[in-house]
Amino acid sequence: MDQNFEDFKQKVKDSSDIVEVISSYVSLQKRGRSYWACCPFHGEKTPSFSVNRDGQFFYCFGCHTGGDVFTFVEKMENIPFAEALRQLAERAHIPVPESHRTAADIRRARAREELYKVNELAGRYFEACLAKTEYGKTAREYLRQRGITDEIIQRFSLGASLPSFGSLRRNVGKKGATDDQMLRAGLIREKNGRLLDAFIGRVMIPIKDPRGRVIAFGGRVLGDGLPKYINTGETDIFQKRDTLFGLDVAIRAIRAAKEAIVVEGYMDAISLHAAGVDRVVASLGTAFSRDHAKLLARLAEQVVFAYDSDDAGRRNAVRAVSIAKAAGLAVKVLNVPAGKDPDEYVRKAGKEAFEDLVRHAWDGTEFQIRYAVSHENVADLAGKVRAVSNIVPYLQECRNEIEAAGYMKLAAQLLVIDEGLILSEYRKGKSRRVFEGPASLPPQPVPQGIPDALSQAESGLLSLFLRHPDLLSQWGDKLWETGFVSPVRQQIYEKLLNLQQEAPDRIRTRLLEDGEEAVRAETARILSLDETSDMTEEARQQSAADCLRRMELHHLETEYARHSVLAGRYAKENDARLSEELQICNELRGKITKLYGND
Ligand code: UTP
Ligand code: MN
Repeated sequence: MDQNFEDFKQKVKDSSDIVEVISSYVSLQKRGRSYWACCPFHGEKTPSFSVNRDGQFFYCFGCHTGGDVFTFVEKMENIPFAEALRQLAERAHIPVPESHRTAADIRRARAREELYKVNELAGRYFEACLAKTEYGKTAREYLRQRGITDEIIQRFSLGASLPSFGSLRRNVGKKGATDDQMLRAGLIREKNGRLLDAFIGRVMIPIKDPRGRVIAFGGRVLGDGLPKYINTGETDIFQKRDTLFGLDVAIRAIRAAKEAIVVEGYMDAISLHAAGVDRVVASLGTAFSRDHAKLLARLAEQVVFAYDSDDAGRRNAVRAVSIAKAAGLAVKVLNVPAGKDPDEYVRKAGKEAFEDLVRHAWDGTEFQIRYAVSHENVADLAGKVRAVSNIVPYLQECRNEIEAAGYMKLAAQLLVIDEGLILSEYRKGKSRRVFEGPASLPPQPVPQGIPDALSQAESGLLSLFLRHPDLLSQWGDKLWETGFVSPVRQQIYEKLLNLQQEAPDRIRTRLLEDGEEAVRAETARILSLDETSDMTEEARQQSAADCLRRMELHHLETEYARHSVLAGRYAKENDARLSEELQICNELRGKITKLYGND
């Protein structure tokens, strides 16, 4: 990044007070030194979203999202950094000089604009083909048979591609699109040196972004031909993983109802809209992703999965529930009766019957548990055991132990076993996560498996370092061996080592702007703890020593556990390395006793 760009960014940041910017999205209440609100990134009823004016950062204690003003706008608007920067510059009336974008940035932005434009042209061409051609008449008849009216054709801008190999290329080409642009947009393909239309003789369904811009197409054969659908491959403006079909049409209804219904197919979504159920989006034959979940969590509190009721659909739903739960959404799973998909059902039974299914949908975790139970032969003991081990992960996804306890009761009833057995597996699962070490910990800023006291110690120490980097040179070496159990805090610590020479506020800024989301969020969380800012020099020393001792203890105890397991194995196998291991164990035990002695 050149200096001009850095200056520009700094100027925008200085002119964008985070409290003011966030206030234009959510209403903030001042309490103590911070401002609070219900978090816009996950559903909640009591505020755990905090904004700190002095530090110019935000942090949510519920979903652990955090960062600076740029991060906030990026997430809120779901846009890349460069776009957030541009919006904030406009807001502050700071002109965005072209020269502050690199040549590559400009080229990439132009290429994207071209893709939007050529998709728009193609969409209009397909619409005209549906409305005005002989083939369009056949396609309209097909749609009519499926209960899709002219009004719905318009609402979804449905179209048709003619059964000819070059009509799109010719017509959209005349409007100014180049072959290269059409190739990049996936509208034409090269075959044996010839350029052919990619969609031939199909009903065309444009896929739009939430702002209503066409980014891709799905094309369905009329009737039973194969492949049933052809879809645009990934392009610079289209990734399946973060696109939900129908969101542009459904977004208001989803916001208003604070609920989204997610289906698997284009036709399920269109058909439900046609029936008057308008808070519906489709995940387009790809698995429901974390990006999908995050997107919906910004709009709604609850998501209802209405997947096909065959086994594949149910299996997909089980996975989708976990992903949605992790994004902080309340989750339900709807059961479409008699093996139908939502499209068939709503056309037969009507809107009210479908809304009734929504009202009676399974709670997400209950659905997961029932699914796991129904897939084992729970009449025999081995089946019960397998079912329990399948269920335990779902229990651990619960927001708290009280919620988990309720589901343990249910699982115990379904399996006809003692609740205590499930509880002990649940506990085992939790503690095992600690000993498997960092690699297996979930990628969250506060991994659940780490004991509270240890988390506090790690955060406390980093909090001190972030405000008083001089402490780092004093304690840094000692820490090197112990390390942080939390991978993200280990990362922050290593970054701090590299930034040591910089001024404290500069270090904080660098970490809040870090490329990795987890680093930004955890830094914001630690800064918002704000426990160490008023400490005297002496209290700081004391606090650092305490935190470090706790971390050392944990490190030593983990090592001790590891070596004693090894020693046990060597003893059984008559392995000569036993005496070495015993030696190590003794030394570790000595160190541990000494550290406890300091309490
Ligand atoms: P479905 O087979 O359930 O399609 O596949 P559908 O939407 O219900 O369509 P109809 O009712 O049979 O006309 C679900 C989704 O999987 C993707 C599409 O996104 C489809 O909507 N899919 C399916 C494909 O991309 N290609 C295929 O060949 C089939
Ligand atoms: Mn279908």
